[in-house]
Amino acid sequence: MKIGIIGSGNIGGTLGRHWAKAGHEVMFSSRNPEELKPMAAEAGAQTGSVEAAAAFGEVILLAIPFGKIPELAQQIGRLDDKILIDATNPYPQRDGDVAQQVIDDESQTATGYVASQFPGAQTVKAFNSIYFKVLEDKAFRAGDERIAVQLCGDDPQAKQTVKQLIEDIGFAPQDIGDLNSGTIFEPNAPLYNKNLKIGEAETLLQQLSV
Ligand SMILES: NC(=O)c1ccc[n+]([C@@H]2O[C@H](COP(=O)([O-])OP(=O)(O)OC[C@H]3O[C@@H](n4cnc5c(N)ncnc54)[C@H](OP(=O)(O)O)[C@@H]3O)[C@@H](O)[C@H]2O)c1
Repeated sequence: MKIGIIGSGNIGGTLGRHWAKAGHEVMFSSRNPEELKPMAAEAGAQTGSVEAAAAFGEVILLAIPFGKIPELAQQIGRLDDKILIDATNPYPQRDGDVAQQVIDDESQTATGYVASQFPGAQTVKAFNSIYFKVLEDKAFRAGDERIAVQLCGDDPQAKQTVKQLIEDIGFAPQDIGDLNSGTIFEPNAPLYNKNLKIGEAETLLQQLSV
């Protein structure tokens, strides 16, 4: 698939390298794409502006600080018919009022907010609850050894695509449900940043459901 990475740091850089290794076409971007050239060259990927990555990808990975999302949405506009993977988390100390308002607003989840910024895209929440070093070191495993990556979303087809992208790099998708279910793997929630093998993660989810 063609994957545009917006925010090519700890999470975006790691995922882009893995997806390129798995045979996908990757374009890394940030506000300073020229700085990404060595990483991209090593990975066999491209670099471009944020707008270029947004245009390039059938799938867009969003991995920037949450507080930057409104300005990004202004900058790139709509992402119609694309799959948007939201890997972001709202941290008020880092992200300011945007994050605090989303946390305080019980009528909206964090990814619900992200989805509202990009109407027309199919938003899937994934990779927000795995530590980047685990993402880096524990990729390309098989079977029960795979670490779980939680995901949720409202569009079954988009979710299936993201599940495949999780499997392609040797992690195990753990489907939590629709987009509103994502609160269970947001900061401070029970499934956040647990970095468990898939069997352990499924057991924990069952315990939480009873
Ligand atoms: N670190 C983790 O283990 C982890 C795990 C799961 C989820 N997350 C979440 O993933 C997101 C990214 O975290 P990270 O640790 O990968 O951060 P990071 O290493 O600081 O990388 C952030 C990237 O975003 C780019 N960026 C910042 N503002 C931007 C803007 N306005 N437009 C385009 N690109 C912009 C930065 O590059 P430039 O400054 O060059 O633009 C950088 O490449 C956060 O929301 C975080 O909560 C992190």
